Amino acid sequence: MKSILAKDYQIHFSDYAYAELNKMIENTAISKLFIIADKNTLAFCYPRLKEKLSINKTVEILEIGIGENQKTIETCEQLWIKLCDLQADRSALILNLGGGIVSDLGGFVAATLKRGIRFINIPTTLLGMVDAAIGGKTGINLGALKNQVGAFYNPSMIVIDTAYLKTLPPREFRSGMSEILKYGLSYDENLYQLIKAYTETDFVTLEKLIYRSIEIKNEVVLKDPQEQNLRKVLNFGHSLGHAIESLFLSKLEENHITHGEAVAAGMVLAAHLSSQYLGFSLEKTAEIKCHIQKYFGQIELLKPDYHLILNLLKHDKKAESGCVKFVLITQIGRFKLNCEVGETAIIKALDYYNT
Ligand SMILES: NC(=O)c1ccc[n+]([C@@H]2O[C@H](COP(=O)([O-])OP(=O)(O)OC[C@H]3O[C@@H](n4cnc5c(N)ncnc54)[C@H](O)[C@@H]3O)[C@@H](O)[C@H]2O)c1
Ligand SMILES: [Zn+2]
Repeated sequence: MKSILAKDYQIHFSDYAYAELNKMIENTAISKLFIIADKNTLAFCYPRLKEKLSINKTVEILEIGIGENQKTIETCEQLWIKLCDLQADRSALILNLGGGIVSDLGGFVAATLKRGIRFINIPTTLLGMVDAAIGGKTGINLGALKNQVGAFYNPSMIVIDTAYLKTLPPREFRSGMSEILKYGLSYDENLYQLIKAYTETDFVTLEKLIYRSIEIKNEVVLKDPQEQNLRKVLNFGHSLGHAIESLFLSKLEENHITHGEAVAAGMVLAAHLSSQYLGFSLEKTAEIKCHIQKYFGQIELLKPDYHLILNLLKHDKKAESGCVKFVLITQIGRFKLNCEVGETAIIKALDYYNT
């Protein structure tokens, strides 16, 4: 697959990506090489990366724990200290081998150590490949508030190797599919049609879905790197999605839902809001709902929880002076930014989701 040019770095694919990675490590002045990985990616993905690296340098592995609660200043501090102990200087290079947690955290550690050292993302989750690893947003959480501290800081390269997906748990895989659906619904109807044609064993279509999603994310970020305007399209389904995600985080452990499942529900709600405000076809709304509920399942959004969802929505970090502006669609693949939405319409959309 043809490499994709981002601002000042390349996104490479498969074996060619490893050839470029090896070249960069061997030919540029790199004092020390580090890999940040979590427990799972160390077990499942590092053996493959090790096999693909043909370099004459020692690699230091920095392992972090699993999950969102690792994206903290404490983990950063541990990594900064370890990196300094291991003599990381400004010519060091970090390889982030993992999903969005590793790339967000590892990218932020790279952005801040010695005022910025180089890093490369090697995403191992579908969500990482099509979203988190691309676009230069790095960061950590502040208590329960997601991604409150961070930096826009680009990697030196991105390596996309879909072979890593073989060991990804199905639920995590679906989480990534939700972001692909986001691009299809808000930005590219052809991509949406391709998603509908995709079946689980169809690896050729999956590669196409990943490639097109990366192209879209990259195109949007190139046009609006700091989210002044266009980049907001990437939040389609996310305003209510985040509220639903937070609602379930506050519930019991066994009720846990993934980011993708929450965003998928958020996209059904966004489609219905689009039909209320922008005349988006109700027939298409029903088709989207049917597709999403078949693939991601139905989340239990109880009537007594509606007001909690509305409250959480107001705390959305993207809310401007208390008012959340939605990304809605006029047609599949055609978005409209900054749409103001009333509470009654949101309740109608929630009722629709539940029917
Ligand atoms: N920076 C951005 O632009 C951006 C965009 C979207 C999401 N994000 C962030 O991404 C994070 C979520 O990322 P994620 O969904 O990739 O989660 P994740 O990194 O936690 O990975 C999900 C799970 O899969 C495991 N795993 C990863 N690769 C594996 C593999 N190949 N085989 C087996 N197990 C594997 C991980 O250990 C983890 O348990 C969130 O913190 C979110 O805020 C950032
Ligand atoms: Zn998302």
